Amino acid sequence: MPPYDDDQTMPDTKGQSLPLACPIDGPLAPCTIVIFGASGDLTARKLIPALYNLFLNRTLPEPFAVIGCARTELDDSLFREKLRQGCAEHSTHDLSHWPEFARRIHYKAVDYQSRDSLNELATFLRRQDARSGTGGNRIFYLATPPNVYATVAEHLGLTGLTAEEQDGNGWARVVIEKPFSFDLDSAVSLNRTLGRSFAEKQIFRIDHYVAKETVQNLLMFRFANAIFEPLWNRNYIESVSITAAETIGVEHRAGYYEQSGVLRDMFQNHMLQLLAMTAMEPPSRFAADHVRDEKVKIFRSLRPFPVDRLDDLLVLGQYQAGHIGGQPCRAYRDEPGVSPESVTPTFAIMKVYIENWRWQGVPFYLASGKRLPRKVTRISIRFRKIPHSMFRNVLQGDAPANQLILGIQPEEYIALSFQTKNPGAKVCLRTVRMDFDYLRDYTGPGLDAYEKALLDCIQGDHMLFWRQDGVELCWAFMMPVINACEQCSDPAGRLKPYPAGTWGPAETGRLIKDSLLWGD
Ligand code: BG6
Repeated sequence: MPPYDDDQTMPDTKGQSLPLACPIDGPLAPCTIVIFGASGDLTARKLIPALYNLFLNRTLPEPFAVIGCARTELDDSLFREKLRQGCAEHSTHDLSHWPEFARRIHYKAVDYQSRDSLNELATFLRRQDARSGTGGNRIFYLATPPNVYATVAEHLGLTGLTAEEQDGNGWARVVIEKPFSFDLDSAVSLNRTLGRSFAEKQIFRIDHYVAKETVQNLLMFRFANAIFEPLWNRNYIESVSITAAETIGVEHRAGYYEQSGVLRDMFQNHMLQLLAMTAMEPPSRFAADHVRDEKVKIFRSLRPFPVDRLDDLLVLGQYQAGHIGGQPCRAYRDEPGVSPESVTPTFAIMKVYIENWRWQGVPFYLASGKRLPRKVTRISIRFRKIPHSMFRNVLQGDAPANQLILGIQPEEYIALSFQTKNPGAKVCLRTVRMDFDYLRDYTGPGLDAYEKALLDCIQGDHMLFWRQDGVELCWAFMMPVINACEQCSDPAGRLKPYPAGTWGPAETGRLIKDSLLWGD
């Protein structure tokens, strides 16, 4: 039984009542979530805390089961205990209901390279279905290193588990974590392999940025209000900056990050998704493929990056030793697992143009970096200045342009700056800010990005997931830039150092002023 009774509240351990979360459309179909890579970081840090919170919030289907798969031999109780510890370490969830949740978790050791092993898994899952009543509906979550995605998908196809409504199967879905491959060729090849086992409608390519509340809100803000959209174009907007600053460094992920760098890690996916949601045309309906069609049109309209003029439009950086919040940080090249001669960029800013009627000539600045002074993800719309100032005779200088800031994280807000008269006898203007805090007047619980993505996958809603054409178009846009940087005669020379705890290399100032990117 779920840990709550039928009224709309759930007792917590202190005898108070927690509100029930997240109304959803109708009951969800029972299902099993099969996690490959179950002994990894993603499972412990994100997936299990997200599933547990959905369970606490009474949002998971009933019945449901979680089957962890990895190479190591483990029994259910040891696996459950590892997950409980992960949940305690990586979340603040109340664990008093953990035992009820844990009863639904099982473990099956799987050798991804072996067809026999996957066949054994198929038998295990069918038995499991019969025991728990999950009806053969399954989500296969690939939380493995990307180099085994193709093998797992192929072997799953051969077991027959991916064929829907056959042999005791209900629906079958696969969730793929980023990175979706390493470059355009490998993305095309992975998509082809996935396509042999799954139809596109069964594939959910996750981008946790798109599942963030404030990113989803972009579409509501733009298309559920009449007053912004008329201004949302080249006639009124001078530039757009999309920034994602992180304080963390490479952490324990050097093996992956050394190969990837910031352009593959953040730009090919998250940054281009934010760009598409900021720039896309209004879809005619709020439906997954209508929205994804509009995003794809933006990806198709990106002006190819002029690789012979890279320095005019791109700055790459790598963090050096420095301090953040008074704490010393080592240089990227001194991080465990990083080559002392590494030329992997940890910071980039790109100036990008969209070639269409709405955005012709408007620069979009995309910037992201590790070891910057504070965590901030935001989209800033800088409007054009007023065409003529009647205050020129009484004011020094021009009236500053209006700015709209969409704070994505950690502060979730919308702020509009405009000019007002300063109170008093003397005529002078001041810039003021009208702020909306996203959580103001909201007392219910929220869904974090992984909770939202998992829930949508259970519901079969593709809205927040990448479609194959989008993935390939974004790789096609990024590859010339990545190749030009990696294959140039002096990749080290292109990489500008910046001390940890600063806003990236000084050369960024060539493209745009710091305050426009990160705020004052
Ligand atoms: C991941 C990247 O996709 O996003 C990481 O691989 C990055 O390098 C992370 O740190 C940032 O996510 P968030 O949600 O913390 O902004």
